[in-house]
Amino acid sequence: MKLPIYMYGHPVLRATAEPVTEMTDELRTLVKDMYQAMYDSEGVGLAAPQIGRSIKLVVIDADPVSDTFPDCAGRKLTLINPEVEILDGDEVSRSEGCLSLPGISEAVPRVEHIRLSWLDEDMKPHTEEISGFLARIVQHECDHLQGKVFIDHLSGLRRQLIKGKLNRILTGRVPVDYPVRFAPSVKGRR
Ligand code: NI
Repeated sequence: MKLPIYMYGHPVLRATAEPVTEMTDELRTLVKDMYQAMYDSEGVGLAAPQIGRSIKLVVIDADPVSDTFPDCAGRKLTLINPEVEILDGDEVSRSEGCLSLPGISEAVPRVEHIRLSWLDEDMKPHTEEISGFLARIVQHECDHLQGKVFIDHLSGLRRQLIKGKLNRILTGRVPVDYPVRFAPSVKGRR
């Protein structure tokens, strides 16, 4: 099934996601469909709230950015109930975007070293120390599970400067070349 990406302004993106308690056939299919939706929209990560499901599930395939970030080569991760522990408090700013906020790209300060714990698709536990851009992708996606989006990390001034772009997303007036679902308040658009 082709899953639409839920746009900024949809309440599901502000909800705290529920933990996954067991792997089911339905969830295995959902994981496959999420990878497909991510590839179709040329993203490197997708969290379940972005396809309208408020559960702690994330898919990542960082390989497409490995030209710029060699550590990302071949890194494909299905994260169930992920938990991020910060290992080094120093923050670095780098540009980020989000499939739920098309047309917006802003520098976001994040730590570079984390310890990630998660369950894989067989509900087997893993722990790994992760650095660099992959650590950024993981933090961005795990934010979605807490009802956060990357622009929440911006200064008030930066947010003021992107207000027009945000309004176009909030009112369904943004061109997007993948299937999307706008907030329920947006009527009769797309
Ligand atoms: Ni995102």
